[in-house]
Amino acid sequence: MELSIIVPTYNEAPNVAELVRRTANAVRGIEAEMIFVDDSTDDTPQVIAEVAARTPREQGPGDGSGSLPVRLIHRDAAVGGLGGAVVVGLKAAASDVCVVMDGDLQHPPEDIVALKNRFSVGDADVVVASRYMDHGSARGLADRTRVWVSRLSTMLTRAMFPIRLRGVSDPMTGFFLVDRRRIDLAGLHPRGFKILLEMLARKSLRTAEIPFEFADRFAGQSKASLRQGINFLVQLTALRFGKMSLFAAIGAFGAVANLVIMWALIRLGMNYIPAAIIGAEVTIIGNFLLQERFVFQDMRSDASGVWSRFAKSFAFNNVEAVVRIPMIALLVNTWHISSVIAAGITLAVAFVVRFMFHSLVVYAPRSGGKRSPARELVDEIDAQAVSPGEL
Ligand code: GDD
Ligand code: MN
Repeated sequence: MELSIIVPTYNEAPNVAELVRRTANAVRGIEAEMIFVDDSTDDTPQVIAEVAARTPREQGPGDGSGSLPVRLIHRDAAVGGLGGAVVVGLKAAASDVCVVMDGDLQHPPEDIVALKNRFSVGDADVVVASRYMDHGSARGLADRTRVWVSRLSTMLTRAMFPIRLRGVSDPMTGFFLVDRRRIDLAGLHPRGFKILLEMLARKSLRTAEIPFEFADRFAGQSKASLRQGINFLVQLTALRFGKMSLFAAIGAFGAVANLVIMWALIRLGMNYIPAAIIGAEVTIIGNFLLQERFVFQDMRSDASGVWSRFAKSFAFNNVEAVVRIPMIALLVNTWHISSVIAAGITLAVAFVVRFMFHSLVVYAPRSGGKRSPARELVDEIDAQAVSPGEL
């Protein structure tokens, strides 16, 4: 067997026949199998079983007849949701080379061959079908909210795993090829959607990408939900508790240090304005040194020089401080909330933005002098802004 195609399904009955027809056509000439891992509560398993019975197994795949053996694994308990189903499929696959694809034809089966060809080059453990690279597109979705959620979550995710996700423009895609031998299946703890992200985050894998166009659903409705979104955020924090929580701890420590310095200077007779400024600047420098040492130590060698890093960090923090104060006034005046809550909101937003800036810009790898980190950030935001996506 050259290729196993794994399709997780949850109530996709009207899509099954068309999906199998197009997939069988697409992989004609390749020795492949298709495995549905199904958690449906409707008649999807019966429909799959009927289609499976119609595709002659005995004829032998790869004989040019276009026949594609179809297997069905139905689970009574949907443990781990979509991601759990994918892992079950990977374990059951006859081939080590596996393609994972949605069951609603949003992932065009015709691109399976491109994934396989890219894998055949031999330099990748995972080939990602990306909505965000070159000629890829995420057109197949839906409302503006989801587009923005996707954009921001993709950026946040890449900021949290700047090394592992380098070169992966679409870590949230559900369409990819994976070499099963390179994955520790038992070590995965899938939680709903985003199984690819978990694989990439847990282990250093060699990745490659091909573009694809995220199509409209053939039939039925998306199973993505607010609950999936929350699941995703929990998983993201769990996967990357390290860097971001350390960053937060240092930030909290700095905030306390800032107040102590200010208090001490005022007690020594200084006016509160210069005391606040000195407290803030000392804290900014101290935080930078701690982050260099404890948070981003693994990224220093590839990044620009220490003075350049310091200049960016220092500039960011000063701009942030200047911007945050009028933001509080703006929130209080437009939303009519208390100034303490407004300050809390600006601090929370500032924390996330500060983390993203440090992870993506201050410690960005030197790109052989090609483009400045600021330019890269602008390009990144630009790319995210023009291509619609989803969570
Ligand atoms: N077995 C199983 N169990 N399958 C599930 C479950 C589950 O609990 N939940 C969803 N699925 C199946 C669906 O039936 C479908 O085949 C596939 O997983 C994707 O679900 P959709 O509901 O179509 O998700 P989407 O289109 O909003 O998002 C998908 O595409 C994105 C872009 O590639 C997902 O794959 C996302 O993870 C991905 O980012
Ligand atoms: Mn879908």
